[in-house]
Amino acid sequence: MQDMPKYKPLGASRFFADGRNSRPLPRGVIARDELDEQDPAHTGAKSGVFLETIPEPIDESLLARGRDRFDIYCSPCHGRLGDGNGMIHQRGFWIPPTLHTDRLRNVPPGYIFQVISNGYGAMPDYRNQVNAQDRWAIVAYIRALQLSRHATVNDIPEAARTQLTQPSSGGGAK
Ligand code: HEC
Repeated sequence: MQDMPKYKPLGASRFFADGRNSRPLPRGVIARDELDEQDPAHTGAKSGVFLETIPEPIDESLLARGRDRFDIYCSPCHGRLGDGNGMIHQRGFWIPPTLHTDRLRNVPPGYIFQVISNGYGAMPDYRNQVNAQDRWAIVAYIRALQLSRHATVNDIPEAARTQLTQPSSGGGAK
């Protein structure tokens, strides 16, 4: 063991592009016993007020992750579209409410995060199955789902809008 090839702390590496064998910590890593349970990113609220923004960079990969987690953990009850039409009510469970109501469109993201973390009425909590970062990803995806049912033409980027409103040249439906 003394002589076997191994990395020593702060040594050099030809394998990694930056030449260092000590790697930066992945995002979200928390040292053992150092989880700050009062951190708003973990509670969804700051001083008792739900966060109005999602404390994660919102990009396509976050939404893709959110969709993936939503389809696994939420869709059995809420349905893939969030309309409450999941499989489980066919087996006798409550029909969950649709997520496309004015009230749920307007609740702050921190509120939805808190519902996922702690459960809500008949809905169980998912804090142990879904880590905090993924819970925020789900919140972001729910916002996208909600927008998909409530978007106006002005929500479509300019270029795509022109494409949609211009009559297609031949072939398509008239
Ligand atoms: C086992 C079925 C089930 C699963 C899985 C489930 N829910 Fe629910 N959810 C419900 C039910 C039932 C309600 C309504 C509860 C009630 O009114 O007592 C609800 C309510 C909600 C509400 C509305 C809360 C409010 O203020 O009205 C939100 C938001 C929600 N769920 C999000 C989620 C998300 C996100 C997931 C996935 C992480 C999820 N749910 C997974 C059954 C489920």
